[in-house]
Amino acid sequence: MTKPSPTKTLAHDLDVLLADYQVLAQKLRNYHWTVRGPSFFTLHAQFEKLYDDAAEKADAVAERSVALGHRPVPTLARSAAIARLAEDGEHRTATAMVEAIAADYETLIQAERELALLASEHGDIATTNLCVGFADEHEKTVWMLRAFLDAPRR
Ligand SMILES: [Fe+2]
Repeated sequence: MTKPSPTKTLAHDLDVLLADYQVLAQKLRNYHWTVRGPSFFTLHAQFEKLYDDAAEKADAVAERSVALGHRPVPTLARSAAIARLAEDGEHRTATAMVEAIAADYETLIQAERELALLASEHGDIATTNLCVGFADEHEKTVWMLRAFLDAPRR
């Protein structure tokens, strides 16, 4: 069996990351629509912000892939099939939604740190910078989501 070339591996990893953002964006959109309870106004707005951010990051990942000469994963069905993150069609409490999203960002941080290292080993500094920047932003998001979960309950 032939070893995949570094650019093929990077393209594949970028596809999985793009798929993760597509899935996360839809998950956040669903949570934005269906969240209920005393935190409605806070979370309805926050999920929308994160949804917009995930959609922008999906775009940036796809365009990086194109810049490297690849064709990014083209369909939602294929994205759902290859993503690390999972969609969520269940009815969740507000707290369970925030817990799920925080865990998703933790998964992304780990994946982006690994991809940043791989890209840097192959001299692809633009992909490294993209992934490091995203992971740094997500660390702040995770802190905020976890702070929300630790808030005293009335
Ligand atoms: Fe809306």
